[in-house]
Amino acid sequence: MMYRRIAAIAVLASGMVASATAGAATTPEAKITPMQQAIDQGAAIFKSDRFGSTRTWIPDMAFHSKPVTCDSCHSNGGKTVGVMPTGAKIPSLIGTAADFPRYNAKAHEVFTLQRQLVHCIRAGIGGAAPAYNSPVMVDLEVYLISLSRHATMGRNVK
Ligand code: HEC
Repeated sequence: MMYRRIAAIAVLASGMVASATAGAATTPEAKITPMQQAIDQGAAIFKSDRFGSTRTWIPDMAFHSKPVTCDSCHSNGGKTVGVMPTGAKIPSLIGTAADFPRYNAKAHEVFTLQRQLVHCIRAGIGGAAPAYNSPVMVDLEVYLISLSRHATMGRNVK
């Protein structure tokens, strides 16, 4: 037992030395996990992807029109109250992912989160939605789920 503990400490210590010496050579990207990478990619898609749409809008107090992206309505990456181009306010997307799957009365259909994304890409952006489970859809889904970290899941399943 004692031996094992010492060995573990030795491994830890050598690892620390190794990472300290390698620190200068390795870039910060090397430490990003696949999940963090998906979150980052999803956040970038959320802010800039147009899904083939050429739709634009003129933000309040701005002089020039801007391309419509998710961020046009869901302000600050969906982290704060959103504002529609019409000026109407919509809730932030914090916790939203935990509210899916959910029944959509208008569509008479149970919407998964990806189904909701398809709707927003078509109706909100005026673009063509990528296939379900395609890399772009998965990155967007992971990003939205990251905004719901620690939220209670299954709220719509009574
Ligand atoms: C033109 C404005 C607009 C754009 C662009 C838009 N959305 Fe939405 N989105 C809305 C509105 C309005 C709702 C319904 C909000 C409400 O009343 O809860 C909504 C709802 C959602 C919801 C469900 C929120 C909930 O709990 O009801 C998600 C998730 C979402 N949008 C993600 C996205 C993503 C991702 C994009 C980009 C692919 C996007 N939206 C683009 C306006 C937009």
